[in-house]
Amino acid sequence: MKLSLIPLALLSLFSLIPTTAAVKSHDFKTCAQSGFCRRGRALASRAAQAGADWDSPYSLLQEGLEVDSAGSTLRGRVQRSLYPHIKFSLQVDVLKDGLFRVRMDEVDGLKKRYDEAAKWSLVGEPELGSAKWEKGHKQVMAVSSTKDGEKVELQIEYSPLRISMWQGGKETITLNGRGLLHMEHFRLKEDPPAPTVEAAAEGDEQTVLEAPAPAERPSAWFEGADEDGYWSESFGGHTDSKPKGPESLSLDITFPRAQHVYGIPEHAAPLSLPTTQPPDNRYSEPYRLYNLDVFEYLADSPMALYGSIPLMHAHSKDGTVGVLFLTGAETWIDVARPEKGEGMSTHWVTESGILDLFLLPGPSPNALFKQYTALTGPSALPQLFALGYHQSRWNYISSKDVLDVQRRFDDALMPLDVTWLDVEYANQKQYFVWDKSNFPDPRAMIDGVAEAKRKMVAIVDPHLKKTPGYFVYKQAQERDVLIKKSNGQEYEGWCWPGASAYADFFHPDSWTWWRGLFRLGDGKEEVKEGEGWNDSTKDLFIWNDMNEPSVFNGPEITMPKDNIHHGGWEHRDVHNINGMLFQKQTSLALTERETPAKRPFVLSRSFYPGSQKYGAIWTGDNDGTWEHMKVGLPMMLTLGVTGMSFTGADVGGFFRNPSPEMLTRWYQVGIFATFFRGHAHIDTKRREPYLLEEPYKSVVRDALQLRYAMLPVWYTLMHEASISGTPPIRPHYVLFPKEEQGFAIDDQFYIGDAMLVKPVTDEGATETTVYLPEDQVYYYSYDEYTMYRGSASGTHITVASPLDKIPLFYRGGHIVPLRLRPRRSTPLMAHDPFTLVVALSTKRTAEGELYLDDGESFAFQEGDLVWREFKASKAGKKGLKITSQDKVPKHPTEAVYGVDLSGKYQQQNAYAKDIEGVRVERIVVLGLSAAPTNVHAVLGDERVELQFKWTKGSHAEGRKNQEGAASVLIIKDPGVSITKDWEIVVE
Ligand code: NOJ
Repeated sequence: MKLSLIPLALLSLFSLIPTTAAVKSHDFKTCAQSGFCRRGRALASRAAQAGADWDSPYSLLQEGLEVDSAGSTLRGRVQRSLYPHIKFSLQVDVLKDGLFRVRMDEVDGLKKRYDEAAKWSLVGEPELGSAKWEKGHKQVMAVSSTKDGEKVELQIEYSPLRISMWQGGKETITLNGRGLLHMEHFRLKEDPPAPTVEAAAEGDEQTVLEAPAPAERPSAWFEGADEDGYWSESFGGHTDSKPKGPESLSLDITFPRAQHVYGIPEHAAPLSLPTTQPPDNRYSEPYRLYNLDVFEYLADSPMALYGSIPLMHAHSKDGTVGVLFLTGAETWIDVARPEKGEGMSTHWVTESGILDLFLLPGPSPNALFKQYTALTGPSALPQLFALGYHQSRWNYISSKDVLDVQRRFDDALMPLDVTWLDVEYANQKQYFVWDKSNFPDPRAMIDGVAEAKRKMVAIVDPHLKKTPGYFVYKQAQERDVLIKKSNGQEYEGWCWPGASAYADFFHPDSWTWWRGLFRLGDGKEEVKEGEGWNDSTKDLFIWNDMNEPSVFNGPEITMPKDNIHHGGWEHRDVHNINGMLFQKQTSLALTERETPAKRPFVLSRSFYPGSQKYGAIWTGDNDGTWEHMKVGLPMMLTLGVTGMSFTGADVGGFFRNPSPEMLTRWYQVGIFATFFRGHAHIDTKRREPYLLEEPYKSVVRDALQLRYAMLPVWYTLMHEASISGTPPIRPHYVLFPKEEQGFAIDDQFYIGDAMLVKPVTDEGATETTVYLPEDQVYYYSYDEYTMYRGSASGTHITVASPLDKIPLFYRGGHIVPLRLRPRRSTPLMAHDPFTLVVALSTKRTAEGELYLDDGESFAFQEGDLVWREFKASKAGKKGLKITSQDKVPKHPTEAVYGVDLSGKYQQQNAYAKDIEGVRVERIVVLGLSAAPTNVHAVLGDERVELQFKWTKGSHAEGRKNQEGAASVLIIKDPGVSITKDWEIVVE
């Protein structure tokens, strides 16, 4: 959201303005409007035009090159033929699991480059591994290996400096292969400009582009003679004073074996990133990473959005590798698929900071998830309620309104877990201070909501109304924890409250102060203002919005880059990290406010690597259009593969009024996002799902109930993400890394490994094509159990998708736990029985898992949990054995990071006892083609005969590309408990 220079009094007027305009592109820079990006691209085009004559002026000096005795770290000096007196350090660390970390910095520069991105992002200093090093005449080489024993080599050629990673005898990542490495050294404004070619060659006819012989090369040959933007830059009426001058960093990274690159969110773009350079480029601008509040963003664009994760996956059927380019500064990335040769080439240009680059060897997508998670941490396991449905709008206007909304959900038999309050709850947008005319007794309101076993969320933004009467602002000022202008004075920007100051979460003194603001009273004695939040309860959770930060009157709707943070760092150095630190402190605040602690829930708009540890994010102010509904899918898939597991888009679209059909379809999409929230702009008409007419209302109710029925699946997947970083929703390339046809698919995806969905995002659609990738399993439609069999080369099926149908399938070979009793909210499901859907593979096998805990506390870290593994396997010629076993003892140390249950877990733990009585009420077996004669359970020594019903299907099972009704076996009330071991035999 953006408003420029609009006085407070006009804000309400603004809300009447129709919101149908497209993005205001002129508010945001193109590469050509950004000095360092322009210089970076110019460097690339000089290199391209010089062709084979181009070589990098950077080389690694052999003199003084050392490897430590453990074989973990190489240190050396880099020299550059430009300005030879400027020196650089190069450090290469061998990390565990075959990773390498490459760092480069200027030595004894006039100023210091920012080197703290890793400190904020990583969970700790990465564990060093060790390699075998070999020094040769032309290169030094390290040989290391992944956890699984795959050999990974790193070759570092001295001159020109070129670093390459090799796996299985093939080059997988190349740094500076195109010679675009350039670290602009710190210089003085009065230094003479780089000599031009003309001056150096004294009248020689050569032009810069014709690549003079190395001995004659002036600096301008490489740096350009005319490139500007070194010392100050103006854009949109704002001037960046650039006191440190140029310090950008350019690096080409090539993936010689890759066919696709993924990642680097946040962009409204396809999953397989389209190229930005000829030939056949879809975009002409590079992908930009610069956390921005983009009003009415485009649905297909490399423009920057609210968050940045500089992590890229490069994939082909030969394997997946990744690079994490840890910079907190604005970054632009060109992507090209070169015409000749193979692979994908990329060019990264970042405005400031050291080079801190991690090379991740994969070689599978799943291995990459673990490697990235080991660096930046796993996503937090949320409370169960947070996976339920969230109802938001800007704004629910009063306590009465809030309670009314609850009631109407109940009347409409629609489940709901959380009701949200946007900025209007806060008196004059002073967060923590309620507008008592509309919310006279906030605690009573929250308690009223909590009585129905629901929660609330209120927004708390990072801008602080600049008035001495606002205690939060006053305290921040007293503690001197506000962001400063370049001249050292307090920075003032414009946001919802009008003139605002911004707390600096890089400042350690801000941390305990901020967390203290959320301290709860005991409900009897008032917490003194400033010592906690009296008008709050443990059932109120937090939304951190506008944390890019959004500044309505700032350059590109954010903060000037020459603003100053703690430690004297400029905002330009830390811009992309800023929002994460705000969410981090809020999330710690919510963890600290109760004893024993409950898991926090904080939604943030801005993010950075590591944000996954602090809560959910959403894709900001999307538009109520079919295009935006569609692009939400690749956006979430991309976020998932880059570590952000808890994500969603505003259901219904933030702007505009969706038609009932669009809104209905959007709910059918939203139920497959881990974070599922309806939200809308203040101008829009009310659109709570209970307001829909029939048939839409019933269709949305069904969708909501499907979401709740699948909560055991979602929770189990969030648990998996919290130990391994594997995303809950998975694109095709993750499940089938060798099946090329699926590499660019992003309009259908898997929920875990067990279900496939193709959400309908086309207006008026009555049928949909679904791609089935594999041969050796069946797919079963979730509602009618229609059974499909694809083929190894991939099969497209057409399925009916009228408004009331979601193309959702069980994938053969998997067992899916569901809870089918409709409830008002998640806590009411705590003791509900389960249905297990056993979807058999062509080999008559299936497996699945279920993770459960109390859904709110941290007791799971002490072993209070239930984690089951289900298996179905062939028994006899036509029969089946289905078992339930404890999964924990088998995986005591599966965690990459986080909870180690060894020595703590016991099958009879307090939580397991609490749900002892919870049973499996039904088992549905799909694809068992022969009629059973007996079904019984084996419970220890006891044999219990079970009732069952088998219906013959019509599917010709042996044949490929077949479709027909599946045979269905229903075992009613098998009398088995969810926490215990059991076996069911079908004969
Ligand atoms: C911008 C957010 O993106 C939007 O969701 C919210 O409603 C407005 N800010 C008002 O707080």
